[in-house]
Amino acid sequence: MIDEATEFEAVHGVRPSGVWAAPGRVNLIGEHTDYNHGFVLPIALPHTTRVTARRREDGRLRLFSAQGGGTITELALDGLEPGVVTSWAGYPAGVFWALAEAGHAVGGADLYVDSDVPSGAGLSSSAALECATAAALNDLYDLGLSAPELAVLAQRAENAFVGVPCGVMDQMASSCCTDGTALFLDARTLEQRHVPFDLAAAGLRLLVIDTRVKHDLGDGAYAALRAGCERAAELLGLPALRDLAAADLGPALDRLPGELRPLVRHVVTENGRVLEAVDHLVRGDLAALGPVLTAGHASLRDDFRVSCAETDLAVEAAVAAGALGARMTGGGFGGSVIALVGAEQVAEVSAAVTAAFRAAGFAAPVAFTAVPSAGARKVG
Ligand code: GLA
Repeated sequence: MIDEATEFEAVHGVRPSGVWAAPGRVNLIGEHTDYNHGFVLPIALPHTTRVTARRREDGRLRLFSAQGGGTITELALDGLEPGVVTSWAGYPAGVFWALAEAGHAVGGADLYVDSDVPSGAGLSSSAALECATAAALNDLYDLGLSAPELAVLAQRAENAFVGVPCGVMDQMASSCCTDGTALFLDARTLEQRHVPFDLAAAGLRLLVIDTRVKHDLGDGAYAALRAGCERAAELLGLPALRDLAAADLGPALDRLPGELRPLVRHVVTENGRVLEAVDHLVRGDLAALGPVLTAGHASLRDDFRVSCAETDLAVEAAVAAGALGARMTGGGFGGSVIALVGAEQVAEVSAAVTAAFRAAGFAAPVAFTAVPSAGARKVG
């Protein structure tokens, strides 16, 4: 068993039963489409959150995080209610709550959490924590749930227990992705297809640039955008914006108040970009993904308006330095940018972004290359 067992024992005084890992993600394309019942195309990162765990028979949760300030959060399963746990511990506690609420026979547990998924960087560190916890409980309590079922329960934990109205993309990516592929997901039906995404074979790299502008979905802006999209669908008499065909976009926009039009235009064109991107990947033409990424960024910047000066500059500088395409990834308001670059251009593109940030007086970004990695799994 890996190092975590020793750390777990130091904190909890017993040996753990196992170690479960779940990754962060970057979304290649399909932003703010999941809660509109549309399409997304994320990959899992090599970075994971690991939950080392053991059952407890007394209905109590003892939660410790290596990044959490050195204290154990102790909770009674019985007393769990939305809103009562406000720290990082709300994510794992929310997963216990969601499982119990859905009627699954889950009891107490000791957890030791450690993570190398950057937090606040738009890379889904919360989904990684939820999905690693869900995978651990699924095994510890023999629940027999599938990866998509665990993802949906993890989303429920975040929506109803933590109080963030996110869609299902991050949890599905963290639970269901496989090595070497992107996850083409229909967020309405949860139908999934693992599309090969072999960057190395195409002589390409995916650069992830954390702008260090902390993003926070809990601050109301995300909820307001989601409500705007749902209102637009209602005004158009549709179950969701997914149901608006690209060919009907023009007349539909004429029927909406001005402030909702750009939101609808983004969602409809973004769903189209996901389908286009999947076509390119299926044909093995990974380079053709570049312009799709850049067009997606323009739509997030000009129509959906969730980019910021730092993400715009990172995209602009990466493309000017030779990236095939770039865009912000995740919910927005900061976070990370992805850039598709030739294998030989990684250093040049990241140096150009760093130089542009310095010239603009922004804090230095952090860049790394990512390969599509595996979803939640038992690792020890
Ligand atoms: C966040 C949410 C996702 C999704 C993206 C935007 O990551 O958690 O459900 O809505 O924003 O695409």
